[in-house]
Amino acid sequence: MMQIPSKIVAFCFLILAGACQDQSRTQFQNIEDRSSEDFAWNIPSSIPLPLIPEDKPMSEGRFQLGRHLFYDERLSGNGTQSCASCHQQDKSFTDGRAQAFGSTGELHPRSSMALVNIAYVPTLTWANPNLRHLEQQILMPLFGQNPVEQGITESTWPLIISNLRADPKYQLLFADAFPTADELFTQEQIVDTLAVFVRGLISFNSPFDRFQRGELAALSASAQRGRQLYFSERMECFHCHGSYNLTDSNMDRTMSFVERPFHNTGLFNIGGRGDYPNNNRGIFELTQKASDMGKFRALSLRNIELTAPYMHDGSIATLSEVLDFYAAGGRQITEGANAGDGRKNPFKDGFVTGFTMDADEKDDLIEFLKSFTDRDFVTNPRFANPWSEL
Ligand code: HEC
Ligand code: HEC
Repeated sequence: MMQIPSKIVAFCFLILAGACQDQSRTQFQNIEDRSSEDFAWNIPSSIPLPLIPEDKPMSEGRFQLGRHLFYDERLSGNGTQSCASCHQQDKSFTDGRAQAFGSTGELHPRSSMALVNIAYVPTLTWANPNLRHLEQQILMPLFGQNPVEQGITESTWPLIISNLRADPKYQLLFADAFPTADELFTQEQIVDTLAVFVRGLISFNSPFDRFQRGELAALSASAQRGRQLYFSERMECFHCHGSYNLTDSNMDRTMSFVERPFHNTGLFNIGGRGDYPNNNRGIFELTQKASDMGKFRALSLRNIELTAPYMHDGSIATLSEVLDFYAAGGRQITEGANAGDGRKNPFKDGFVTGFTMDADEKDDLIEFLKSFTDRDFVTNPRFANPWSEL
């Protein structure tokens, strides 16, 4: 699991103490009143707004500061890496690698994740039921040591801050983001505005969305046939990748109960005991409950066409192979350290049982998956690197 140096933990404690309290739902009772928002969400009226912690308000100033920090390599221990190194807009904010690569060359056990509609995610990262606040999650890439991502330490932090302070652009951005603050350039302000930027990465304009809104011509005949399959009891995709956000792990202001599901899809079954490889055992690593082995979050499939390779470890290269995997009801590995028949994993979810699928049906399903691609989102200048505009 990720580790953050102990001094930094103390340093971060105030932020975490605030962020760890469970969010109260009362502050957003009136979901129809979108005019009360001090931020242009750009979310269609048919979609509920996300829940935002009361003490972490959105604002345009915060969004723009967060955007500059997100794309700034000065925010790393050795000046080589920013959030955008692993989260690139043209790939729906993933990096195209099977496993993420940190600033000191260390390989992350897992694949970097798309950052799309994160404001709706109730548990962050691939498999951590306790990580419920973005402000908490963002400390990991910044300060985590196991593995090292941006690799900031206690000793490099003061220099990073003085470099940012020396940049007149940041003087303006911080003042705009926190007009009444006594102190600027605090760690809390940096983490909070990164979270505001990430929450602002909203995508609801794919052909799938437009079809849902009644624009029937948005999907080709093939994609419409694929849609029938996706929502069928034969293929079962919708059970785990359903809702307006194409996932079962979703949270918004209209919900009175938030589910936090995780599933084993039968990728591994090492030695026939149901095991997954060390370091990638899903929520079992935290709960130590045998039945939690291999359980990961079912991500939103938004922009899935752009985020290959797939799965928590990037071990499936293409969408076509992902479909073969589900059709087989899991993955059989015949040799090597991970050998075992994933189809028989005792902890596998009951909705991954396998199905028959002919070549035309597979093409149709892929057409439908491609309708989740929101070209506006991946080319929107509002989400792009602000430093390259200079
Ligand atoms: C070295 C590559 C790397 C860097 C740099 C990086 N990330 Fe990530 N990001 C990842 C990986 C890998 C995961 C999945 C982690 C896991 O499951 O343990 C992830 C997960 C996330 C998630 C969770 C998404 C979800 O759906 O739960 C968010 C949010 C995120 N990163 C934001 C950021 C921000 C903001 C920064 C900059 C402060 C950043 N990342 C820097 C690789 C990176
Ligand atoms: C039982 C719940 C469940 C069902 C049913 C299900 N999935 Fe998944 N899906 C998951 C989980 C969990 C993951 C992540 C697994 C991992 O990385 O170990 C995943 C991952 C994926 C990914 C890769 C996501 C990424 O960003 O890497 C794709 C694509 C996908 N599923 C498509 C489908 C399709 C298509 C169907 C129907 C044929 C389907 N899924 C059925 C739970 C499910």
